[in-house]
Amino acid sequence: MDIHAVSSQIDLDIQQVDSFEALEEFRLRYLGRKGILAELTSVIPSLSKEERAVFGQQVNALKNKLLSLVEDKQKSFSVSPEKRRRTSSDLGMPGLAQELGHLHPLTQITDEICAIFSRMGFTIVEGPEIETEYNNFTGLNIPLEHPSREAFDTFYLKEKTEGGKQKTEKLLLRSHTSPVQVRVMKKHKPPLAIVVPGRVYRPDAVDASHSFMFHQIEGFMVGKDIKFSDLKGILAMFAKAVFGEEIKMRFRPHFFPFTEPSAEVDISCIICKGQGCSVCGRKGWLEILGSGMIHPNVFKQVGIDTKQYTGFAFGMGVERIAMLKYGINDIRLFFENDLRFLRQF
Ligand code: DAH
Repeated sequence: MDIHAVSSQIDLDIQQVDSFEALEEFRLRYLGRKGILAELTSVIPSLSKEERAVFGQQVNALKNKLLSLVEDKQKSFSVSPEKRRRTSSDLGMPGLAQELGHLHPLTQITDEICAIFSRMGFTIVEGPEIETEYNNFTGLNIPLEHPSREAFDTFYLKEKTEGGKQKTEKLLLRSHTSPVQVRVMKKHKPPLAIVVPGRVYRPDAVDASHSFMFHQIEGFMVGKDIKFSDLKGILAMFAKAVFGEEIKMRFRPHFFPFTEPSAEVDISCIICKGQGCSVCGRKGWLEILGSGMIHPNVFKQVGIDTKQYTGFAFGMGVERIAMLKYGINDIRLFFENDLRFLRQF
């Protein structure tokens, strides 16, 4: 075997080595127990004394060359200690403070209100924001000619046609959380005690007290012998828990299609304590929600026997409650994501 030819072959082969695997293959080929170097070494004893000295030295030189080539390649594949130092973290470096966010004030107040009702035994249920016209209106005894049925009082969705035929169910963005009453009462038998937080939509022009999207919490209780006094007791507990023990409450007769009798509920003004100020419009009272005894027509729509069961319902605007509780004078502040506002809660 020509030792010079082997040496040149080594030079060529090492250039092809481009991975740890290839390097190991190269090492075994030349330096392995049955490798080329071993083969060359095995020739030595059969040589004459003079040849042996020269050849022995050449083989030795070749071995050293191979060893250093392998070592160099190995180093080139490993990450240098210097590079490792550059990419690893410096544990002595001062940390970057993470800014902690928190829940939006509307989420906080929604959670707070739901927790109050939850403690009184109510179950929290959610419904879809896209509703059927039936659940939003008809099921709630809101007749066709009712003003809130006007096309412009609600966001109707484009009607889907199936195979040229108009689909029977008209869809819309719900204008209140009351349709969840219909959904729940159709599916579940009394006794029921439910609260429903969620978004609602109305095509109102946006100003300090109106938004095309806002939040409501609906509540209702259905069972045997549920009376108006139960409604009063539950709402008084709720109002005192949110606004403080000292507030007063009054029920003002009102009209809602889905309740009879109906009432709007006021609390004594939290600013002037009922004396009359600019916040309550000199009245001393602030309206916080609508309520009443569930109308027999609603029970008929959902198939609940009006001879056996009665129930009450109420609905409130979350933004309104938050604005009264915290003295916020513009509903738009909730939706502008201005951190100077949000950080105060
Ligand atoms: N759905 C009514 C609204 O959006 C609020 C309301 C009033 C809900 C009286 C009720 C209720 O459940 O009994 O204006």
